[in-house]
Amino acid sequence: MGTDPRSVHKIVAAVKDAVKVPVMAKLTPNTADIVSIGKAVQDAGGDAVVAINTLKAMVISPEFARPVLSNRYGGLSGPAIKPVGVRAVYDLYASLDIPIVGVGGIEDWKDAAEYIMAGASCFQVGSAVGRVGPEVFTDITAGLLRFMSSYGYPDIGSMRGAAHE
Ligand SMILES: Cc1cc2nc3c(=O)[nH]c(=O)nc-3n(C[C@H](O)[C@H](O)[C@H](O)COP(=O)(O)O)c2cc1C
Repeated sequence: MGTDPRSVHKIVAAVKDAVKVPVMAKLTPNTADIVSIGKAVQDAGGDAVVAINTLKAMVISPEFARPVLSNRYGGLSGPAIKPVGVRAVYDLYASLDIPIVGVGGIEDWKDAAEYIMAGASCFQVGSAVGRVGPEVFTDITAGLLRFMSSYGYPDIGSMRGAAHE
């Protein structure tokens, strides 16, 4: 349903009607046109989009000649998907007015800076909590603050979308 703009519009509108808290819709990258999905969220009254979820993927065991996961497919996350996520946020930022939360492969301050410069207002860290450890949050924050101070960015807002012309 996350790849069909009409379904996404219907679901986000229904959730907005049902709750009083801000509604952020998480977008799948497993679609040819993520911007049309983001627009459906915005048109339905969604408060923000979160991009991206995992990429549909598969690992095969040569010894067993079968997919490793019993479900056959799994969700690919971590560093391999960062360029896909950054591109998605970049394209969404060019077309949407609502805020974007960037996620996908963020492990250090440079990864976070990429997402912010692509257009993210804030970011999430998933797999790196396991790969690096919980200190990843303070490391990213400290690194970002150092970078912002050296390059004259007073706040995240001044960095947001900086990679766009
Ligand atoms: C073990 C695991 C469980 C996840 N569960 C969910 C989930 O329940 N709902 C969701 O929207 N995304 C879920 N995700 C996707 C993450 O929120 C995130 O979008 C994705 O992993 C990319 O970010 P990362 O590279 O920082 O992990 C999950 C990811 C992992 C690795």
